[in-house]
Amino acid sequence: MATRTLKCPKCKTHITVEGEPGEKVDLTCPSCKKKGFFTFPKDIQKFELDYGKSNRVIEVNNLSKAYGAFTAIENLTFHVKKGEVFGFLGPNGAGKTTTIKAILGLIRPSRGLVKINGFDIVHQIKQAKQHVGYLPERVAFYDNLTALQNMYFYAELKNVSKEQCMPLIEEFGLKDHANKRVGKFSKGMIQRLGMARAVLGNPQILILDEPTVGLDPRGVLDIREKIKEVNKKGVSVFISSHILSEIQEVCNRVGIINKGIIVAMDSVSSLSQQLQIKPKLSIEITNISEKIIDAVKKVKDVDKINRNGSILEIFCSAEARAKVVVVIEKAGGIVVNLQTKDPSLEEIFMKFTER
Ligand SMILES: Nc1ncnc2c1ncn2[C@@H]1O[C@H](COP(=O)(O)OP(=O)(O)O)[C@@H](O)[C@H]1O
Ligand SMILES: [Mg+2]
Repeated sequence: MATRTLKCPKCKTHITVEGEPGEKVDLTCPSCKKKGFFTFPKDIQKFELDYGKSNRVIEVNNLSKAYGAFTAIENLTFHVKKGEVFGFLGPNGAGKTTTIKAILGLIRPSRGLVKINGFDIVHQIKQAKQHVGYLPERVAFYDNLTALQNMYFYAELKNVSKEQCMPLIEEFGLKDHANKRVGKFSKGMIQRLGMARAVLGNPQILILDEPTVGLDPRGVLDIREKIKEVNKKGVSVFISSHILSEIQEVCNRVGIINKGIIVAMDSVSSLSQQLQIKPKLSIEITNISEKIIDAVKKVKDVDKINRNGSILEIFCSAEARAKVVVVIEKAGGIVVNLQTKDPSLEEIFMKFTER
C-alpha cells in the first residue's frame, strides 16, 4: 500500500490517498466536493527511487581515490539535496579536498561515480559543471592583474556578462580595491574575491572548500551570511570545513569524514540523538557547596558535572533538568542563572573521530 498527498486543483485542500501500484483511485475533495482520480505508478519502488533522486544535485557513489599505495578516500556514497546546505566535515588530511576535486572532475577517481545535476562528471563534464560555482582550498588569481581585471577574465571564461563583475566585487566588500593588483591583497581579500568569482554567473550549486580558512572573525561572519543569502535564493551549497563551530549554524545536514571514510551523515540534531550526547545545563548558584554538588550527582540521568566558580555545568537528560533545580534548592542553593545548551557539532565530531 502506498500513500500520496495531493492538492485539490480547485480549492487547494490537501487530500491523502492510499492505493496499490497501478491502481486508479476515485477521489472526492472533502471541502469543495470536486471529483477526480489518481493513478498510482505501476513500478512504485522505481518511481520512489527516481522521484527521490531527481531531488539530488550531487550524487557520489562508491567513490575511491588512491595516490599510489595510499588510499585517500574509500567507498564514499552520499548526496546533496536540492536547496540544502551540506557540510562536509573532517580533520586535516581526512580526504575533503580529494573528494571535492573528484566531484568536480579535477582528478580522476580510482573507482566510483559522481553525478552533478544528473550528469556524469567523467563523461559529461561540460554539462555537469555548467551550473557549478567553486571556491578552491587555495584560491589563486593573477597577481599582476587588478581584482576587476581578474573578474573580467573569469567572466569571459564562464561566458558571463562582464557587467556582473563590479557589483559582485562591491557585494563582497572590495569596492575600494577593485582597481588594485591582487598581488597586494591580504588572504582575507583574496578569499572574498574567490567567493565573488564562485558566484559569478549565478550558479545553482556552490562548492566551497574550507571557505573560512585564514579569515578574521568578521570575514568568517560575512561568508556565513553570504552562504545563507545565496541559499535563500535556492542555491544548493556543499561546504567543507575542519572548523565545525563556524559552519554548524548554516548546514541542514552534515557528513563527517575521517581518514578517507564517512563515519556519520545526518542532521546535526539527529546525530546528537544517535550518540546520546546529552544537553548541557549551566546553573549559577551564589552559595555553591559540596553538599549541593553531591545532591545533584544523585539525580537520575545526570552524567557528568563540572564546577566552574559559582557555575555548575551539568550533562543530563531533558527530563532530569527540572529535578536538578529542585534538588539544588532543597539543599539550600540559590539559583541566579540557568541556561541549557544543546550538544555542539564539535562534541559530535569528537565522538565520531576519536581513535
Ligand atoms: N596528490 C597527492 N598525492 C599523494 N597524496 C595526496 C595527494 N593529495 C592528497 N594526498 C593525501 O591524501 C590525504 C587526504 O588529503 P586531502 O583530501 O587534501 O585532505 P583534507 O582536504 O581533508 O585536509 C592526505 O593524507 C594527503 O596527504
Ligand atoms: Mg583540504
